[in-house]
Amino acid sequence: MLDIVFAKPVTPKAGAIAILLAEEETLTGAALALDEASGGAVARALAVAGFKGQKGKTCLLLAPVDGLTRVLAVGLGKRAELTGITVEEAGGAIASTLSQETAVTVIADGLTPVEAAHLGLGAVLRAYRFDLYRTKEKAEDKPKLTSITIQAEEASKARAAYAPLKAVAEGIFLSRDLISEPPNVLFPAEMAERCKALTKLGVKVEIFGPKEMEKLGFGALMGVSYGSVREPRMVVMEWNGAGKGKQKKPLAFVGKGVTFDTGGISIKPAGGMEDMKWDMAGAGAVIGLMAALAGRKAKVDAVGLVGLVENMPSGTAQRPGDVVTSYSGQTIEVLNTDAEGRLVLADVLWYAQEKFDPAFMVDLATLTGAIIVALGQEHGGMFSNDEELSQKLLGAGIASGEKLWRMPMGDAYDKQIKSDIADMKNIGGRHGSAIIAAQFIQRFVNGKPWAHLDIAGMAWSSKDNGTVPKGATAYGVRLLDRLVRDHYEA
Ligand code: BES
Ligand code: MN
Ligand code: ZN
Repeated sequence: MLDIVFAKPVTPKAGAIAILLAEEETLTGAALALDEASGGAVARALAVAGFKGQKGKTCLLLAPVDGLTRVLAVGLGKRAELTGITVEEAGGAIASTLSQETAVTVIADGLTPVEAAHLGLGAVLRAYRFDLYRTKEKAEDKPKLTSITIQAEEASKARAAYAPLKAVAEGIFLSRDLISEPPNVLFPAEMAERCKALTKLGVKVEIFGPKEMEKLGFGALMGVSYGSVREPRMVVMEWNGAGKGKQKKPLAFVGKGVTFDTGGISIKPAGGMEDMKWDMAGAGAVIGLMAALAGRKAKVDAVGLVGLVENMPSGTAQRPGDVVTSYSGQTIEVLNTDAEGRLVLADVLWYAQEKFDPAFMVDLATLTGAIIVALGQEHGGMFSNDEELSQKLLGAGIASGEKLWRMPMGDAYDKQIKSDIADMKNIGGRHGSAIIAAQFIQRFVNGKPWAHLDIAGMAWSSKDNGTVPKGATAYGVRLLDRLVRDHYEA
């Protein structure tokens, strides 16, 4: 992880420098001194480039004076409209544009300490890279940036504000690592094993194997696992940070962790099937969230549960037409073995509400292709039975930049999963199938306040974005960390 250092403003004389400029503002302070030291080269370059501090714009100068390698100006947009997300994206632009420098100094004397901390977070998040399996990359192709010094007023306050954000970044990196791993390396038992690392942070980690789950009666989850030689797992992670007796009911977060989804006997077409290695991104987000909460010692009681399975076709796989009995006692006719995520969530959600009587449950799942058709890669789809929880989640989405859009639910959709032989079937019609999936899941929350986040469009990015490089996004970690921070911490 990039090292972020906070220091008092002094005009840097050497190396690489980033300056920040709000729209229609002129160079001031250390940035002005830098311009003067360069004989006005910075201001001249900005004028030629038409750079006026517009949001999302940057202007790069190479070696403007002896000793300085690169000077990057980053636009912040209108000062009055400045948000945490804007400064994070500025940090991201600095980390990506100056990745060939080893160290960068950012002149951020115009930012508040909290804004300066968020700039650091943005840089760290954008500089993430999963390169475990690149053995032959040339040195010149590798990013070299290892540290960023942010010069801000009240550097010690900025440093203090950055500490919890760094813990969140650690959670995001854990999540991105898990989601990026190939499916031959990261199968259910291995993923459960990696959850054990959270014990170091003070999280209680309990792992359930097939014997325990069979005994409990997890017929829905176990049915999905039968096609694979890889054993399923459920991991329960408890973080008790509120203090004894302070919080009556814990918050519960539940993740779909299908480490590879072939579709099973209802097998998927070959094209793009490799994407189904990230069908465990909901679980990855829950694990990253628990690491973030524990890492920053959040004053909250929260429990994270993940159902981990591999969905494979084989002689032992479940068949279309099978009827399974879920942990709730409700029976399910499995008409399509590729609608497996809801089967996994059914048992884990029922267990979560029964065991923990939580204040609410939020589940995250790469559940349907249909949600990608509906919302693209801009919003996660939210389905909920609770007005208050929905509003809080929507707000956390805007504040964190991990946006949600609420989708409708209702009896008319629910009717579609009536079965002729069992209590329900696991698919309905083709139209509105993200909603039908949500109706299915709702039958396993036992009336508890609940929100289902279908993150199929958000878990993986095909291009670099502000603070998220191409690949695993860890969508959900920041969103839910923000939800907890804004509403549930003592
Ligand atoms: N994991 C998939 C959903 C998915 C698709 C996630 C594309 C990310 C990208 C899920 O298990 C699935 O196969 N869903 C089916 C449900 C259908 C059989 C009712 C789908 O969306 O097609
Ligand atoms: Mn599937
Ligand atoms: Zn799936």
